[in-house]
Amino acid sequence: MKSIVILASGNGSNFEAIVKKFREWKLEIEIKALITDNREAYAIKRAKKLSVPVILLDYSSFTSRADYNAALLSQLTELSPTLIVLAGYMKILPPEIVRKFEGRIVNIHPSLLPAFPGLRAIERAYKNGVKYTGITIHYVDEGVDTGKIIEQRCIRIRENEKLSHLERRIHRLEHYYYPRILKNLLTNHV
Ligand code: GAR
Repeated sequence: MKSIVILASGNGSNFEAIVKKFREWKLEIEIKALITDNREAYAIKRAKKLSVPVILLDYSSFTSRADYNAALLSQLTELSPTLIVLAGYMKILPPEIVRKFEGRIVNIHPSLLPAFPGLRAIERAYKNGVKYTGITIHYVDEGVDTGKIIEQRCIRIRENEKLSHLERRIHRLEHYYYPRILKNLLTNHV
């Protein structure tokens, strides 16, 4: 059976949208686990509510980045999912993980890449005064938000729109498209 593992560091709203949609669509795809690097992540509460197993690799309890990366690599190797889904995972995956799972790691980013890679993309786009922004779903390579683009969706920033309102619209787009794109990848391409 095909399967996914979802990595999230924070709120977990994309994680929840994916789990709920996959269940609603009755997909024959196993959601093996939520992996998080942050013991405070709200995503953990969502996973418990949804009965998705949680693997906590609490970053603050590792003595080095290398140790954390080794633990993550070992978990991913053991779970061996068809796709690794990054959903608000805020660490850079190390080259050994990217190479091992090449073409099987997908990320969502809240801007029209290559514009505004990295952190706080919605806010930076907003403050920059761009007229259009959106979301990008892409494969993960060794760079920061540089992998091959799978899909983008664009929205126009409205006259006098508040940042919080724009954020809500971006998240709605993410929650709508990410599950659909993943379903398409899993049923047609991997
Ligand atoms: C989402 O907007 C996602 O696109 C972004 O973090 C947010 C996580 O929200 N990811 C990045 O910025 C990655 N560079 P969530 O935890 O509620 O799903």
